[in-house]
Amino acid sequence: MNDVKFNKTLIFINSLVPLALLVWDAFFGKLGANPVEFTIRTTGVLTLLFLLITLAVTPLRKYYGWNNLVKYRRMLGLYAFFYGFLHLVAYSIFDKSFSLSAIAGDVWERPFIAVGMLAFFLLVPLAVTSTNAMIKRLGGKNWARLHKATYAAAILGVIHFWMIVKSDVFYPLLFGLILAVLLGYRIYSANEKPKKKLATNNTN
Ligand code: HEM
Repeated sequence: MNDVKFNKTLIFINSLVPLALLVWDAFFGKLGANPVEFTIRTTGVLTLLFLLITLAVTPLRKYYGWNNLVKYRRMLGLYAFFYGFLHLVAYSIFDKSFSLSAIAGDVWERPFIAVGMLAFFLLVPLAVTSTNAMIKRLGGKNWARLHKATYAAAILGVIHFWMIVKSDVFYPLLFGLILAVLLGYRIYSANEKPKKKLATNNTN
């Protein structure tokens, strides 16, 4: 098995460990006083975590030259979507018993739900267009432009998290700072590109 295949298998299995632990703890009644809330919160944090890990690929690749990392980005992005989907399912079924009127009422009454929904629905077209066939169909440029929606989904995820926590803003702040660095690096390297090009042209 070549390294990339081995690493992909490793990432695939390890990314499922949090879910396996959640199911295990649910089975043995170890999810605490409010298992539904624990499940929703855990899957929410995992969604945001995988989004940030996915967004870290490009800066790490550019800064350290770890070009191979790009081979794992699709799987990491799909895991962000997967945990986001579990988050939505846990909320819709376990919390709202799949009552569309209750969900609609909640979107209205609790704005953080609307923000979460928006973040999730931004992830849907990204998941749908993650296949090689879709990249070919869209064309690399359009695909890359569409996948910038990941930035908006992550920003909305942090805002959603911030709106939920009452006083203890430590974790939303931490996620927000990491996201700011990952997006800040992109803005910085985008500004650097023309300068580098100019410098190269001048030396030629
Ligand atoms: C699909 C739409 C979504 C709905 C309906 C939703 C709903 C919720 C609810 C009800 C909570 C728990 C609030 C509480 O305990 O008081 C929550 C927590 C959370 N959600 Fe979402 N969410 C959605 C999408 C997202 C997305 C896309 C992300 C990430 C990008 C996300 C990240 C989080 C985080 C980090 C938490 C907080 C966990 C904690 O308090 O420890 N959610 N969400």
